Amino acid sequence: MPDVRDTADSPEVARQRCLDFASMHSEVPVYAAIVAGMADDPDAIDLLCRAAPGQARPVLLLAALHDLAMRRPDSPAAHWFSPTARPAQDPWPDVRRAITEFHDELSQVVATRTTQTNEVNRSTYVRAMVARACADLPDTPITLLELGASAGFLLNIEHYRVAVGDVAFGPLHARVRCEAENLGSAVELRIPPIARRIGLDADPIGPDDIDDLRWLRACIWPEMPGRVERFDAAVEGLRDHPPTLVRGDMVDALPGVIERGDDHLVVFSSWAVTYLPRERRPLIARTLDDVASARPVSWVTAEPPGCIPGLPDVRDDHADADRLTGTHVGLRRWRDGAEIAPELLGTVHPHGNSINFR
Ligand SMILES: C[S@@+](CC[C@H](N)C(=O)[O-])C[C@H]1O[C@@H](n2cnc3c(N)ncnc32)[C@H](O)[C@@H]1O
Repeated sequence: MPDVRDTADSPEVARQRCLDFASMHSEVPVYAAIVAGMADDPDAIDLLCRAAPGQARPVLLLAALHDLAMRRPDSPAAHWFSPTARPAQDPWPDVRRAITEFHDELSQVVATRTTQTNEVNRSTYVRAMVARACADLPDTPITLLELGASAGFLLNIEHYRVAVGDVAFGPLHARVRCEAENLGSAVELRIPPIARRIGLDADPIGPDDIDDLRWLRACIWPEMPGRVERFDAAVEGLRDHPPTLVRGDMVDALPGVIERGDDHLVVFSSWAVTYLPRERRPLIARTLDDVASARPVSWVTAEPPGCIPGLPDVRDDHADADRLTGTHVGLRRWRDGAEIAPELLGTVHPHGNSINFR
């Protein structure tokens, strides 16, 4: 996990984080105004400081308030968490009332939850990187296996309409529509038929885990255009086309979820291997190396720079922490039992809003 553990979650630290958020996020004016209110309110700061060490961040209380708005649509601040809310007035007085009225419920959520992301629009880069992994085997069916799959949204790419620049693939009238700007070379989105879809996660969220799905939704900033709507459509998609989700560690449980077969095993990860301690990461490739004698294997990754061992950008003397400054897309491939040279394919926006392949 990227090391966000601070020792000091003092009220001063929490307040400073609120001030920073409010000044840096003018693109979400309702959220910025709420957080500006939190910064000046000792009760809100006290509530935030009930979070686990390192987690006293305004986004956590915003998610708890968004969650409250979904559970209690008649509560005083609920209307400020609608995607259509606009800051015609100051949202803080309503939010302040909600914090007073539902203090114990909010406190329980803040103390026990951390913010989580399973971003559907990342399907833009997942589709592009899987297509690149399959470029030399365009007609071989694939088993798609995601490490750190969360709810499994990214395993449903074949059911989404995905557009990167002027290239688009997927069902024309799909409910889930994902889009990215193409800032680099031409991107292929055609992928072979998917024979199996498996997601491995330490804490997977199934399509009927109502509370956990609501929490995932609560972590989305409603003012970001289209994100909540895309999330809701993707949840419907999970119910129609549920991938197999397996609970387990992505290193220890990996050999057990790879079924025998001769189709192309395409393993992918998106913002997940970075949560694995650095010394355990090479074990993933070791498992893939073992199975590669029997079938073609690819491993595509969208992770922070310096995260994936063996990629050309990784220096041996690398610092302990990943550089959380971007999303690098990498490809490792095994063909006829041997690994061929790993490639850095390029960079992408962390939520899939743009792709820049070399
Ligand atoms: C930030 S989420 C990313 C989810 C999804 N891949 C995406 O890009 O939207 C990271 C996921 O990795 C999972 N995870 C973290 N460490 C793990 C481990 N050692 N083994 C399996 N899953 C893990 C978490 O439970 C979480 O669901």
